[in-house]
Amino acid sequence: MARALNSVIRGVDYYVPKRVVSNDDLAEFMDTSDEWIRERTGIRERRFAASDQGTSDLAVAACSKLLEKLAFDPKDLDLILMATISPDHYFPGVGVQVQERIGAGNVPAIDVRGQCSGFSWILSQADAYIKSGMYKKVLVVGAELQSRLMDITTRGRNVGVLFGDGAGALLVEAQAADKAALPSNTQRGIIDHKLGSDGSGLNLLAMLRPGLGANTSTFASPEEIAVDPFAPTMDGRAVFRNAVRRMSECTSALLKRHGLTSSDIDLLIPHQANMRINETLRQKLDLPPEKVHNCIERYGNTTAATIPIGLGEACELGKLKKGDLVVTVAFGSGFTWGANLIRW
Ligand code: UT7
Repeated sequence: MARALNSVIRGVDYYVPKRVVSNDDLAEFMDTSDEWIRERTGIRERRFAASDQGTSDLAVAACSKLLEKLAFDPKDLDLILMATISPDHYFPGVGVQVQERIGAGNVPAIDVRGQCSGFSWILSQADAYIKSGMYKKVLVVGAELQSRLMDITTRGRNVGVLFGDGAGALLVEAQAADKAALPSNTQRGIIDHKLGSDGSGLNLLAMLRPGLGANTSTFASPEEIAVDPFAPTMDGRAVFRNAVRRMSECTSALLKRHGLTSSDIDLLIPHQANMRINETLRQKLDLPPEKVHNCIERYGNTTAATIPIGLGEACELGKLKKGDLVVTVAFGSGFTWGANLIRW
């Protein structure tokens, strides 16, 4: 039997900060209400990092939990892939902080900015590195600290109420597989991905300043700093429509490529941007509610961390078991999107 390499997920874990911020808490800073936020988004509360925590601390906490649980020596890692759009510093990225602080060797630590699709993208990269034979043990991390990026006033309320802080990590390992059965929907491992982007949507969900685009004299001028909250802006309705379209299209295309239909899926873990988006997606894919795991109610939108947090929670709850066929799917700023098909 010809042998090949397959990328098997050895474990997942996540970390969310202790501080719970309810919708009523936000209503103290802006004109909003628990009723509006729950009805329009499904969010009841989110977590905000403590003042002495940065994104790197959330990432390190998730990775440390995972590696301790697996009794895995970080020195055995070959690669760290990190997704975040809220790094501690403009550069370098958070990956090198994770590498140093968890005690990994001098392995490459690569940061990717895929916004809310960041985790789907780095999972596909981990899979490609492993299947090429280049690396065997890859730590895949999504972490975000969004609370300090938001305009928590009435001016920014259509974005500010949506986001929270958190991190999640997966350990992906090379395993020998039967080549004839790859890509496979019977052997454990990552099967395939469908990723995409459409830069024509750039202005519809973005944080355009500070930055170094054409006609800028500096990263952020003192005048701008005095008047600009430097927060993300969004055309919510346009983003909503595109999210539903792209997430359903890429999930269906991925399944079709493998001769599968949505009835073959044991669990769908969608990005957590809006419960109404996920409910529309569920209906489009004709999945029963018990086959979709959502955690937006408790954590809001944690950008690149929603999927590893969702996977971690689903495992804890016994909703995700070895051998299950899982689809993760995300959509975000860019626009960017991505779906991953995994035999867990
Ligand atoms: O993670 C990346 C992907 N992100 C997404 O996919 C997010 C997609 N979009 C959405 O989730 C929704 O569009 C939102 C939750 C952002 C907004 O919901 P909506 O039903 O599309 O509301 P809207 O933007 O059309 O606004 C309706 C009303 C407006 O008031 P008027 O003009 O009708 O008087 C808003 O000013 O709701 C108002 N509004 C709020 N009211 C209370 C907007 N935000 C708030 C708020 N509290 N937080």
